[in-house]
Amino acid sequence: MQQHIASWLDQRSEQRLTVVSACAGQGHDLIGVLAARPDAHRVQATLLEYDAGNVAAARAAARQAGLSNLVVEQTDAGQLSSYAGAVPADLLLMVGVFGNVSDIDVRRTVAALPQLCAEGATVIWTRARRAPDLTPAIRSWLRDAGFAEEAFHAPDDVLFTVGVHRLVGAPQRVNAAETVFTFLH
Ligand SMILES: C[S@@+](CC[C@H](N)C(=O)[O-])C[C@H]1O[C@@H](n2cnc3c(N)ncnc32)[C@H](O)[C@@H]1O
Repeated sequence: MQQHIASWLDQRSEQRLTVVSACAGQGHDLIGVLAARPDAHRVQATLLEYDAGNVAAARAAARQAGLSNLVVEQTDAGQLSSYAGAVPADLLLMVGVFGNVSDIDVRRTVAALPQLCAEGATVIWTRARRAPDLTPAIRSWLRDAGFAEEAFHAPDDVLFTVGVHRLVGAPQRVNAAETVFTFLH
């Protein structure tokens, strides 16, 4: 995950980039990358996380890493209204989300991703391939939503997969009334 984030940052030369992490946990992936980068100041990041303990831990980690452009919001990332002020994102992290919501919610979330994306944005997502494997459907829903696949890592020896998709279609206006997912567990 950190390699994907770092290589995305290497490929983008802009001085101002927006990153949003949905269901960010303690933000280890993004904070770990930015803490080690002299160009972290280029990134304005928002972490959306529901759990108060994780929010506190992420805020402490960001403070310790000196990341003054990273904010952690305690909010429900399943509601598109929660993204107000944080999007459009140049990089959207959907890590540890698609395996914790219903298949219908995955499909609804994928269809809504262009609402959260800036032009040419990248989405990095994960999903385990436990049977029945939903990843072929997710990749096809991403195509339907206007994304081109840049990478799909599915090593033989693990069920875990990581996808990297870039928006080639048009970004869309946010429908703040929409709820796209609810966690199952
Ligand atoms: C599987 S963890 C993934 C954490 C992180 N993205 C990672 O990969 O390490 C899922 C996280 O989503 C959070 N979460 C669950 N429902 C949420 C919601 N509706 N809005 C925001 N965060 C939520 C949980 O508290 C948990 O931290």
